[in-house]
Amino acid sequence: MASLTIRKLDEAVKVYLRLRSAGNGRSVEEEVRVILGELVQGRSELSGATPLSAVAHAEAAPSVSASSERSVTLIIGGGIAAFKSLELIRRLKERHIHIRCVLTKAAQQFVTPLSASALSHERVYTDLFNPESEFDAGHIRLARECDLIIVAPATADLMAKMAHGHADDLATAILLAANRPILLAPAMNPLMWNNAATRRNVLQLRRDGIHMIGPNAGEMAESNEAGIGRMSEAVEIAAAAVDILRPPRPRPLAGKRVLITAGPTHEAIDPVRYIANRSSGKQGFAIAAAAQAAGADVTLVSGPVDLRDPPGVTVIRVESARDMLHRVEAALPADIAIFAAAVADWRVANEGEQKLKKTSAGMPQLALVENPDILATISKLKENRPPLVIGFAAETEHLIDNAKAKIARKGCDWIVANDVSPATGVMGGDRNTVHLLTRDGEKINVDSTKVESWPVMTKEQVAAELVAKIAQTMEKNS
Ligand code: C5P
Repeated sequence: MASLTIRKLDEAVKVYLRLRSAGNGRSVEEEVRVILGELVQGRSELSGATPLSAVAHAEAAPSVSASSERSVTLIIGGGIAAFKSLELIRRLKERHIHIRCVLTKAAQQFVTPLSASALSHERVYTDLFNPESEFDAGHIRLARECDLIIVAPATADLMAKMAHGHADDLATAILLAANRPILLAPAMNPLMWNNAATRRNVLQLRRDGIHMIGPNAGEMAESNEAGIGRMSEAVEIAAAAVDILRPPRPRPLAGKRVLITAGPTHEAIDPVRYIANRSSGKQGFAIAAAAQAAGADVTLVSGPVDLRDPPGVTVIRVESARDMLHRVEAALPADIAIFAAAVADWRVANEGEQKLKKTSAGMPQLALVENPDILATISKLKENRPPLVIGFAAETEHLIDNAKAKIARKGCDWIVANDVSPATGVMGGDRNTVHLLTRDGEKINVDSTKVESWPVMTKEQVAAELVAKIAQTMEKNS
């Protein structure tokens, strides 16, 4: 079978692979393996990943920000990987990042302060008790007068000290005094990495909000040893640093409360059976994540789905339509309410207290009663009605006409209409083709509805577009 040499790939492809692998904390080789695996399983993320054009642009202008030079304090720990930190200095400087290096005592066994100083064009710091640098609390300045602290290599010992708040040398004193983000590039023997004490320390550091890149799997400096423990490559660490240093994304929904429903509802027939539908909840969860990323305070009331809570979102899990309505009402007031749930229209009137049994008397008769309409209830509130109420219309025919009628009937402001005929694969799938129907003003008038048709997109892209549209509207109305 032919072998693939990454070095011989097209430059743009290499850059793409480096950025993607750095972002996922994998080696480039591992990333290629993951991509190929996904392609074989037909679920490649290539289309959703950073496009090559964007990567090429990023490489042409790799600096963090054109207007202001960013600054990094680079702590070099004592490990064989310290030699790669010298290359890291070059990679950071290429990205117009100013660097001041700190070498631990052990690091000086592997690289000299002179080489670090020559590459960084700065003096190098080694001693907590150096009267020259400490007369004005130099360790505090090294901790604070920078935008990011990188520890590379982050040895098992340095990480243990950090996890326990030790400060018995310059490096650990800086790390304890820091009020800046910290990025660790661990490097150690695989047995040390897998040791229970290191696992505990890594977990603690992650909980403390410390960023980490690597370690990668591969050959160790020790002969005949391989496993996880190699420090990430300099270019991977530099890419991760640039990512952290990038100016924060705009937060156009900061201060806004967003309430979202998602997923199906389960309507009990008896203690073990229920009426359900095929909704996966993916679209509602994606909207919750996008609204949270835009700075909103998001509450997501979800029916039973197999999805993880989006970070930073308050998720309330419910079963039935009536539970959902209660939790939605309890979560008011909100500035924006988005009802993406596929709520069951009916429930069983005579829910069995015990499991229904087959009897000779024939089939059980299931009488259905209508569920409360959450969207209509909230849209028609006299008090506490969210200023912007958005519903969804999943239709299998006459999409726009049905959605227009729905906006009028339910009294909401916008409707996101989508075709969910089985051939579209929308139900449970990752893509969606939607039309946004909006109506202005107080009048509920079918003819005044505006329709915007969006191209086929991933559910994340639909979420991002919808949130952008909401942000625009909120800004116009403020
Ligand atoms: O009437 P239909 O189910 O097509 O309406 C869809 C819209 O109404 C969606 O936004 C859905 O979340 C909402 N809905 C609701 N409560 C119901 C039924 C639908 O909130 N009982």
